[in-house]
Amino acid sequence: MAYFLRLTLFIIFLVNSALAARVSINVLRLGARADGRTDVSKVFLRAWNSACASTRPAQIYVPRGRYLIRGPIVFSGHNCKHSMFIRIQGTIVASTNYNLIATNGNWIKFENVNGLSISGGIIDAKGAALWNCKKSGNNCPAGATSIGFYSSTNVVVSRLTSINSQMFHMIVYKCRTVRLRGIKILALGSSPNTDGINVQLSSGVSIFNSRISTGDDCVSIGPGTTNTWIENVFCGPGHGISIGSLGWDLHEPGVQNLTVKSVAFRNSDNGVRIKTWARSSNGFVRDVLFKNIAMSNVKNPILIDQDYCPNNQDCPGKVSGIKISNVRYQDIRGSSATPIAVQLQCSKKYPCSGIRLQDVVLTYKNQAAKASCANAGGTASGVIKPSGCL
Ligand SMILES: *[C@@H]1O[C@H](CO)[C@@H](O)[C@H](O)[C@H]1NC(C)=O
Repeated sequence: MAYFLRLTLFIIFLVNSALAARVSINVLRLGARADGRTDVSKVFLRAWNSACASTRPAQIYVPRGRYLIRGPIVFSGHNCKHSMFIRIQGTIVASTNYNLIATNGNWIKFENVNGLSISGGIIDAKGAALWNCKKSGNNCPAGATSIGFYSSTNVVVSRLTSINSQMFHMIVYKCRTVRLRGIKILALGSSPNTDGINVQLSSGVSIFNSRISTGDDCVSIGPGTTNTWIENVFCGPGHGISIGSLGWDLHEPGVQNLTVKSVAFRNSDNGVRIKTWARSSNGFVRDVLFKNIAMSNVKNPILIDQDYCPNNQDCPGKVSGIKISNVRYQDIRGSSATPIAVQLQCSKKYPCSGIRLQDVVLTYKNQAAKASCANAGGTASGVIKPSGCL
C-alpha cells in the first residue's frame, strides 16, 4: 500500500515537473487583443514560431476571450524542435465576411507537425451567411474547412468545440496516429456540406467521446484510410457515419480496418453507411465492424449504396468498381424513420461479400421494418429484424 502511494506521488511529481518545465507563451502577453474584432493572426503565428523554436517544450496559452482570425492561417511544424502544445480557453472567430476564407479550402490549418496537442477552445467560423448564399442558389464559393490537420503525426485534440463551419468542421488528411477526444461539433441540420470530421489518406485515427450535430456526415471516411477507431460518439442531426463517398477515381486507395462501436444516432438521415459512385474504380472497403449501435428515428439506419448520386444530378450511371468485403453489423437496434431499415445495394459487377448481420433489430413506427438488398452475400445470425437480406 505504502509503496503504491509513494509510486503514485512520484508519478504526480514527474507529471508536475514535466508541466512546469514547459515554457508558457500567453498570446495576450504577445499583444493579442481578445475583443473579437482585432485580427490576432500575426500574434498567433509569432507565438507558434517561438514555441516551435524554443529549446524547451513550450505551451501556447490562449486565455478566455474572443480572438479574430480574419484570413486563412497555416501553422507549419516543419522546423519545430519538439512537440507543440496549445491550450485554449477562449473562442476563435472568423470574420462575418465569408469571402475572406471561403475560397481557400482551409481556415485554420496545421501541416507537417510531428507531435501536437490541442486542448479546449471553441472555434466559430460563422458559416451561416455562406449557407444562406448556397441555399439561395446563387453562385457562392465552396467554403473553408474550419480546422485541418495535414501530413502530421501524433496529434491529440481534446475538448475542442467547432461551431458553424462554412464547409467541413474538421479534416484529417495524410496523417498518422491522431486521437480526437471529447470533440463537440454543432451546426444546423440544414447547413450544406458541413461534415463533422472528415478523414482521408490517414492511418491510426481514433475518435472517442464526441458529439456531432451538423448538416452533412457526422464522420466521413475517405479513400486511403486504415486502422480507424470510432467509439462513444453521438450523431444527429447529420448524415450519419459514412465510408465514402468512394470510387470517383479509377485509381483509388481503399478503406480497411474500421471499427465503429457504441455509437448513437438520433434524427439523422443515415446511421452507418457505405457510399460509392457508380463508376469504374480499383478501390475497396474491407474489414469493417459496426457494433453496439442505437438508432432513434434514423432514415436509413443501415445502408450500402453503390449507386451513390446525391440529388440525382449528373449521375455517372455505370457500375461501381469498389469491392466491399467483410463488413459486420453486430448488435444494432432502434427505430427507422422510413419503412426500409436495412438497405444493401451492392455493385452488380462486384457483389459485396462477407457481410455479416448479427442481432440486428430495427422497427418502423413500432412495427416491422423492411429490408432491401441486391448483390449482397454473407451470413446472418442471432435475431434479425427485418430479415430476408442474407
Ligand atoms: C486495426 O486498427 C486498430 C486501431 O484502430 C489496431 O489496433 C489494429 O491492430 C488494426 N488491426 C490490424 C489487423 O491491422
